[in-house]
Amino acid sequence: MENRSQWGTRLGFLLAAMGSAIGLGNIWRFPATAFENGGGAFFIPYLFALLTAGIPLLILEYTIGHKYRGSAPRSYSKISKGMEWIGWWQVAVSFVISTYYPIIIAWAIMYSYFSFGQQWGSDATAFFVGDYLQLADPGTFGSMVPKVLFPVLAVWLIVFFFLGKGVRKGIEVANKIFIPTLIVIFLIIVVRAVTLPGALQGLDAFFKPDWSSITDASVWVAAYGQIFFSLSIAFAIMITYASYLPKKSDITNNAFITGFANSSFELLAGIGVFATLGFMASQSGEAVSDVVAGGVGLAFMVFPEIISQMPMAGLFGFLFFASLVLAGLSSMISISETYIAGIQEKFNVSRGKAVAFGGGLAAVFSLFFANQGGLNLLDTVDYFINSYGVALAGLFEVVAIAWFAKGLKDFQAHADGVSDIKLGLWWRICLGIITPVVLGYMMFQNLKTEVVGDPETGAPYGGYPLEFLFTYGWVVAIGAMFVGALMTVKKWPKNASEAKLHDSEDEGVAK
Ligand code: ALA
Repeated sequence: MENRSQWGTRLGFLLAAMGSAIGLGNIWRFPATAFENGGGAFFIPYLFALLTAGIPLLILEYTIGHKYRGSAPRSYSKISKGMEWIGWWQVAVSFVISTYYPIIIAWAIMYSYFSFGQQWGSDATAFFVGDYLQLADPGTFGSMVPKVLFPVLAVWLIVFFFLGKGVRKGIEVANKIFIPTLIVIFLIIVVRAVTLPGALQGLDAFFKPDWSSITDASVWVAAYGQIFFSLSIAFAIMITYASYLPKKSDITNNAFITGFANSSFELLAGIGVFATLGFMASQSGEAVSDVVAGGVGLAFMVFPEIISQMPMAGLFGFLFFASLVLAGLSSMISISETYIAGIQEKFNVSRGKAVAFGGGLAAVFSLFFANQGGLNLLDTVDYFINSYGVALAGLFEVVAIAWFAKGLKDFQAHADGVSDIKLGLWWRICLGIITPVVLGYMMFQNLKTEVVGDPETGAPYGGYPLEFLFTYGWVVAIGAMFVGALMTVKKWPKNASEAKLHDSEDEGVAK
């Protein structure tokens, strides 16, 4: 075989894996999640989740990709025929994520431009939902918003460009440009942030442990959720990326490097964000807890207000939003590569055709988020696909492999055969017992919230109409499972792993 695409260098693979992991989840999700779940004390469940689920699963996914050298569905099908479905399900989940992820990158592109002259004016929240997104009532969609539509088309062009060029000349090159640039920009931001007046107050709020939170089960659920999203686990991504590794590659070491690099970046983001929030709190005389917000609110409502109060506001704003764009693009490329690889193998078509069809279809769906109702739709789809897509598919993955296929010992032998660090019983305990138990509990908690509603008000998720949540939450999440099952109906072509899987530009590398 060996006409399959391969990474040019080990660093190329590591940068691509880090590029996938380091994304919007690190910059906008982690700081607020940590703060809301006990501040400094959150690091205990977070580190526990990283060491018991994050890195062990990363090792498992790298091993699967490296051993079977196929896209996620193809690799799962080689473990056992019945498991192909899990692979396609994870690919379908990634497909859904790739329809709304570029929207956030598109906003960040516009905001790096808005930063010059602080075009959001004195009320950044009103600007974001009103002037910019022209947000419609929940459940309605309104018309297209050109300032979202055009940048999102630009995002797709960039993604198509790099994916079309192949693994080594496209994905690897993109990450070699994006990740070092991102790190430099982010270091500038963090140094600037921690030297602002009031920064210490913010860091104090971030790191001050609330030990009582350790006994709160929801804090542990949040830590596991963060680790899964942030490390791109159960997205089919890491299996796909590892399938392009040369035979002689250290798996376990690579997984530790990816995991620790991602968490270091996450910690850096937390420091940068909270130092900046401390500055804002000290300017307005409020407590840090009054100015903190998560996700969309943090990046597009709170941050613009802070930027306006800073010296050299335009430059700082530009750098902050540019870092979101770079982190987002490298993750977006990896999310889309899952279905590009899957389509190539299943339908025996060239990379170009797979990019045109798979990427084209995702791009068309992403336009549903570029209208006036896009933010509500994005919020709903994101919540459901993460709770009942990523986390649930992750649960199926570990249970199927550890309990049904009883494959952990084989995978351990494979990883140990190529890695310096040898895996012990702890690895099998993490994957066979701890991860399934925690994920199972997480599912139970999530479902309980869906049935009971908000613990305080009883309202359904986000206060959205039930019909809206059903159509765009449940139907999408359950739909991904069905699409996954549907994809297994067609048989694999002969020699699927090898067929047409090389990019002409990459040829010769994988000898
Ligand atoms: N791992 C990617 C992120 O953190 C998906 O955004």
